[in-house]
Formats: sequence, structure tokens, C-alpha cells
Amino acid sequence: MSHPSHFRPVALEHASRLVNHGPTVLITAAHGGQRNIMAAAWSMPVEFTPPRIAVVIDKSTHTRELIMQSGSFGIIVPGAAQMDLTYAVGSESGRDTDKFTRHHINAGTGPVLGMPVLEQGCAAWLECRWIKESHTEQAYDTFFGEVVSAAADARIFENGHWSFTDANADLHTLHHLGAGKFVVAGNQRQAKLD
Ligand SMILES: Cc1cc2nc3c(=O)[nH]c(=O)nc-3n(C[C@H](O)[C@H](O)[C@H](O)COP(=O)(O)O)c2cc1C
Repeated sequence: MSHPSHFRPVALEHASRLVNHGPTVLITAAHGGQRNIMAAAWSMPVEFTPPRIAVVIDKSTHTRELIMQSGSFGIIVPGAAQMDLTYAVGSESGRDTDKFTRHHINAGTGPVLGMPVLEQGCAAWLECRWIKESHTEQAYDTFFGEVVSAAADARIFENGHWSFTDANADLHTLHHLGAGKFVVAGNQRQAKLD
């Protein structure tokens, strides 16, 4: 990652907030000299502490094979700036090509599990250790992971809180409507209790 990084570590107790609002994410995996990246609209937190996340990863994907071989995966939260890339890596398989090379993705390596992580144009990344649950994987394609490291761009997530403003619009998260149409999160409001 040669660009100046605005990424800072996120405390693990705040990791669930990175995906709490349901952004479309990128799932990365690496094993035996191979690496891969795919889009996933279906993910959610399932526990605060230890932080655990569920992701639906179809049997047809190459990503799934690499996760099952390596025992870990990465989750990237792309910003609006990476909308085209998000759609592209969700529309082709990395079984025969390296999508990182093909799309000139400048990936780094996560500090704990060595998963590919992407910072440019992205809001956050997490590294997860696969929690093997054969039944949910087979029946529902649902994979669970425990988050063991996380970081976010401090311009949009700091001290455990998101802040969506006009100044960080390129990092606002993506939410897939289907067929390559996305809405970009914004218009943040504060609810009040009386
Ligand atoms: C916006 C978007 C969201 C997607 N969400 C999911 C998902 O939640 N789960 C899934 O298994 N595939 C999802 N896909 C499809 C995979 O990204 C796609 O099958 C990909 O080509 C798999 O790549 P791979 O074979 O290199 O792992 C999505 C695709 C797009 C474009």
C-alpha cells in the first residue's frame, strides 16, 4: 500500500459496528500462493464480544475453497469510490485469473492472519478466523468468523463511531440493490430519546 494510509486500528469490541449497517463487502482469501476477492452483500454481525460475523458464501465460489483451505478470510468495506471494482469482482471468478492483478488492486496484508486487505477507496477491513460450522455451511452457505484484527479510515470511522459527511463522500459505504445498482449511504441522522 504505497498511498498515505489514513487507516487506524479499530478496537475489537467496536468491530461489529463496521458492518452493522449492512454494507456490501468484499471477501478476501489466500492460500498456497493463491489469493482471491469477491463481493458479498449478505453479511452481518452475530456477536459483540468476541466479535463474530456471518457471511453467505456460495458453493460455486473460488473464495469458499480458499477459506476452507486456509481457515481464515478478510472482509473489506469498500467506499463509493470502489463501486465499479466491487461489481467487477462480484461478476467474475478468480478460479483461473488473479483478480488483484487484473484490476490493479493494490492490496496489503492483514497483520494477524495475512489476509489480503485493501485500503484505497475503502472505509475499513477486518481479518476473521473461520469458525467451522459444517451444517450451516452446507445447508445455508453461511460462514462464521471471529474478528481478530480490524482497521478503518479515521476520516470516516474514529473512536468506534462512523461519521458520514460531505467531506468523506468517496468513503461512504455501498448497499447493493441488485444487478449492479447500488445506493450509497449518507444523510446520517441522530435519533433522540426523551
Ligand atoms: C454486489 C454483489 C454482491 C454479491 N453478494 C454475494 C453474497 O453475499 N454471497 C455470495 O456467495 N456471492 C455474492 N455475490 C457473487 C460473488 O461475488 C460472485 O459469485 C463471484 O464471482 C465469486 O468469485 P470467486 O469465484 O472468485 O470467489 C455478489 C455479487 C455482487 C456483484
